[in-house]
Amino acid sequence: MKVGPLSGRRVLVTSGPTHEPIDPVRYIANRSSGAQGTAIAEAMVAQGAEVVFVTGPAEAGRPHGVHLVEVETAQEMMQAVQGALPVDAAIFSAAVADWRVASASDSKIKKTKQGLPTLEFAENPDILATVSQMAMGRPKLVVGFAAETDDVIDNATSKRERKGCDWIVANDVSPETGIMGGTENAVTLISDSGAEAWPRMGKRDVARLLAERVAKAL
Ligand code: C5P
Repeated sequence: MKVGPLSGRRVLVTSGPTHEPIDPVRYIANRSSGAQGTAIAEAMVAQGAEVVFVTGPAEAGRPHGVHLVEVETAQEMMQAVQGALPVDAAIFSAAVADWRVASASDSKIKKTKQGLPTLEFAENPDILATVSQMAMGRPKLVVGFAAETDDVIDNATSKRERKGCDWIVANDVSPETGIMGGTENAVTLISDSGAEAWPRMGKRDVARLLAERVAKAL
């Protein structure tokens, strides 16, 4: 294990999309690649932290030197996160599906002449809000992400208050930015001292700066 400013600290990082099954062969997903979360986990390891990395089925490679927990659904991610606590800091960079199919079918849904299937949804647990609002054993620092396409700062600022986390890393994921699935990111760090825009840089640089800030805050 590396020696650094986060030596002796335990950090949880969630990453990637979740997959919410419709039936055994189909699922609902999103475009998260897991690149930013993987880079954050690696940057935390480089700062000396013991890292628990809880990831959905992400394209990005898995970080080295972490305790790796692979999950598929939001509900599984919630359980894995609860199993990883207590931690000093928790970074929620996963793109968790807001909804799951209320009753996924155990067998493949077939085409019928009776018409089209309809899906009913149920709300997934909000992992970030749950951990942020823990009465006991809350991590000292809880960081959420806000991927937005409109009114990025306003939406992210109200998200920080609603969820109860300490920081929000906000980014504009409008398709023309090329950020989702790309190698660069342009983020604004929102904390109780306001909004701090970082210049556009590689996701690994965002991760390194964030790890340094976490080290300072702990
Ligand atoms: O509400 P929204 O999905 O935009 O919030 C994004 C933030 O909340 C991210 O940090 C994400 O990891 C976290 N989140 C979560 N559980 C959910 C939904 C979002 O942890 N069910």
